[in-house]
Formats: sequence, structure tokens, C-alpha cells
Amino acid sequence: MPSPNIWQHPATYELENRAVDPGHVLESAMREIADWAGLALLDLGCGTGFHLPAFAESASSVFGVEPHPALVNLARRRTRALANVRVLQGTAQQIPLPAASVDVVQVRWAYFFGPGCEPGLAELARVVRTGGTAFVIDNDAARSTFGSWFRRAHPATDPCEIERFWSVQGWSRVPLDIRWEFGSRADFESVIRIEFSPELADQIVGAHEGTGVEYAVNLWWRRF
Ligand SMILES: C[S@@+](CC[C@H](N)C(=O)[O-])C[C@H]1O[C@@H](n2cnc3c(N)ncnc32)[C@H](O)[C@@H]1O
Repeated sequence: MPSPNIWQHPATYELENRAVDPGHVLESAMREIADWAGLALLDLGCGTGFHLPAFAESASSVFGVEPHPALVNLARRRTRALANVRVLQGTAQQIPLPAASVDVVQVRWAYFFGPGCEPGLAELARVVRTGGTAFVIDNDAARSTFGSWFRRAHPATDPCEIERFWSVQGWSRVPLDIRWEFGSRADFESVIRIEFSPELADQIVGAHEGTGVEYAVNLWWRRF
């Protein structure tokens, strides 16, 4: 699935990742549901591997799977000193891991956007061990300032349809309020410009002050 933000602008996407969720709301919510300490964790659609080193601090083994070759290289370079991390080229529809090989999966803003991701869901069911947990993190277009920007960018996205899709598949939803908080206005504006069309980015930058924004997300999760 094309991801022009990180494929074309990995350095700016790095700024975005650093700005996401300074209060670690997501990590706390995930650890309450399924802590990965001592377990095997998969970060599916791991991009440049931004999250792999933090997972590697407590997981026994960490796999990053990513389809885009240039990002696979960046993720490998980021984690080359970490003995318990492996980065593999692959997709959510064809995960290059054996059956029942991981305990916890994180998928952050990658591929699992609701209807259409059924082949990836079948692969999750294959690779996650019985009792294991998968997490999908995605935007909640129904809430928050960021959600209103996202709705303007993707007017065809229907938050109710997405919610229905996940509950029919047996997933639970935890609505969370996080923030983007940047070190400078220039960083904020550069990230807005990789996430939105030039016209919408101009409108956002013209109307929204400061170096951050409140951002509603859904943490979807399922036990296998
Ligand atoms: C917005 S980026 C997020 C990257 C990473 N999860 C992060 O939070 O830094 C989306 C990622 O999903 C990857 N991706 C796209 N299609 C995919 C697929 N079919 N299976 C797995 N990953 C995919 C992209 O290559 C990209 O790295």
C-alpha cells in the first residue's frame, strides 16, 4: 500500500515519529492489555524501524517486517547493534515468519485500515501464538483536531464503517487521546506538508498555531 509520507520523506517522518505521543499513552495502554517483556514481538509495517529499539529493551526477540526495500535497509541500519532484532522484507499479506512464532504484534498506521485488510488478518491468525495479542493503531477520524484534518483529507472515510469492520472481526477498541508535540514550528509545518495535500496543508498551517496538536487514535486489539 503506497505510503508516500515515509517512502518519499523518511527524515521528516522521523520528526513525526519523535513528536507522536510524548506522554507514552499508547505504550501504557498496550502494556496493560499485553506486556511483551520476555516475549517475541512483531512490528508489522515497521517503516524505518523507529519503534524496534524500545521494544528490544524488554522483548526477548523483535521482528520488524516491512515491504519497502529502502526502509528495510534503514531499519536494519538502526538496529544492527541489537542482537535480539531481525528486520525482514515482507508484507502483511505474506508475513515471512513461521506459524505460531510471535506473542505480540504491533501495527502502527500501516495496511490495516479496515475493509480490504482481510488477507493480513488471516496472516496474523497464522503467526500469532494461541494466547497472543495483536494491536492495530489508527486515526480516529471522528474526534480531535487532527481527526478533523484527516476527515477533510479523506472525506470518503467512514469511522462508523471502520468500527463495524473491526468489531465484526472480533477486535476491541480503546479510544485514546494523544498529541503530536514538535520541538519547533518548522518541524510541525514540515510534517503537515508530508501528511496533507499542498492546499490543505496551507489551510492547516494558516489556521493552527503552535508546535503541536491533539490527536485521537483508536487502539484496536485482539487476543488469538
Ligand atoms: C505510515 S508508515 C508507518 C511506519 C511505522 N509503522 C511507524 O510507525 O514508523 C506505513 C508503513 O506501512 C508499510 N506498508 C505498506 N503496505 C504494507 C503491507 N501491505 N504490509 C505491511 N506493511 C505495509 C509502508 O511501507 C510503511 O512503512
